[in-house]
Amino acid sequence: MSNTQRVAIVTGGTRGIGEAISVALKNAGHKVAATYAGNEEAAKQFTERTDIPTYKFDVADFDACAAAVKQINADLGPVEILINNAGITRDGTMHKMNFEQWNAVIQTNLSSCFNMGRAVIDGMRSRGYGRIVNIGSVNGQAGQYGQVNYAAAKSGIHGFTKALAKENAAKGITVNAVAPGYVETDMVRAVPENVLEKIIATIPVGRLGRAEDIAHAVMYLVDEQASFITGSTISINGGQHMY
Ligand code: CAA
Repeated sequence: MSNTQRVAIVTGGTRGIGEAISVALKNAGHKVAATYAGNEEAAKQFTERTDIPTYKFDVADFDACAAAVKQINADLGPVEILINNAGITRDGTMHKMNFEQWNAVIQTNLSSCFNMGRAVIDGMRSRGYGRIVNIGSVNGQAGQYGQVNYAAAKSGIHGFTKALAKENAAKGITVNAVAPGYVETDMVRAVPENVLEKIIATIPVGRLGRAEDIAHAVMYLVDEQASFITGSTISINGGQHMY
């Protein structure tokens, strides 16, 4: 693969799946900006390990996203790859869920895609090139007990992906989603052990995914040669959900 060097943003790019994507993009020769919201120590260690610069802001904040993209454009060059990966969980059955739990997940996981997408789309359209990959979830496809907020946000990402793909297909911009299953990350490690054991028992491959399994698919979608793939979702879940 001989790709031109591009500027890439990975939201939530310092830990978990985001870290694996940031590193894979860098290894492919791209200039990467990894964003994070609050975990300073993890971000510091990430940069020490990878030499990838980080930018701290809240992806749920529209103005903060616009300002950060402006800064990244100035520091690294025009953004041509956007990976909307940042996400949180606030699990609980809906009858016990409060508005804050609902809203935090919708804003961070779904509105972030609009906030970041809106900040990069004009530049991509004017240059006639762009790759956007949104990280969905098996739980957005299949639903999950205790996750009306997360499932709604991730399901929303899949609709967002298809609509944005249609709007920009003629401009050299592809918009796709990857839907991970349960992957070895801090987020999944936070699921109570007895619950997680039951979930793993439903995964035909018989194990949790690795962050690199997800990064591998993202790299396929951001490749210049993937120009005819748009509005699609690649499910990477060890066979947990097939349709
Ligand atoms: N289906 C049906 N019933 C279920 C169930 C399920 N999947 N899970 C739990 N229940 C039942 C339990 O058996 C229990 O019933 P009894 O009272 O009759 O025994 C009842 O619901 C209450 O269960 P809990 O004790 O677990 O309830 P809780 O209020 O303490 O916790 C919860 C609820 C917070 C949702 C907890 O079950 C939980 O954390 N579940 C995991 C949710 C999950 O998968 N999150 C994914 C996070 S990772 C991620 O999101 C990444 C990704 O993209 C994949």
